[in-house]
Amino acid sequence: MNEPKVAGTSPCQVDLEAGKKYAFCTCGLSEAQPFCDGRHKGTGFTPTVFQADESKTAFFCACKKTANAPNCDGSHNQLKDS
Ligand code: FES
Repeated sequence: MNEPKVAGTSPCQVDLEAGKKYAFCTCGLSEAQPFCDGRHKGTGFTPTVFQADESKTAFFCACKKTANAPNCDGSHNQLKDS
């Protein structure tokens, strides 16, 4: 698997809790988007693990084309146009 699967063409709204760790799915195969559920095994992809520094609502990338993971950077708009 060289390219991640496009899991969605709009960002996922998530409520983050300060101090909690999260694993962002980078392969696009997870059925618990935008978070990893272990389905990346054998693909060469690994989740991006991070700790939320504050409690807030965020918009995470579902198309897996963002250059600012785990956050949406608007790259999904180019997919819709192509
Ligand atoms: S399921 Fe996609 S990175 Fe784990």
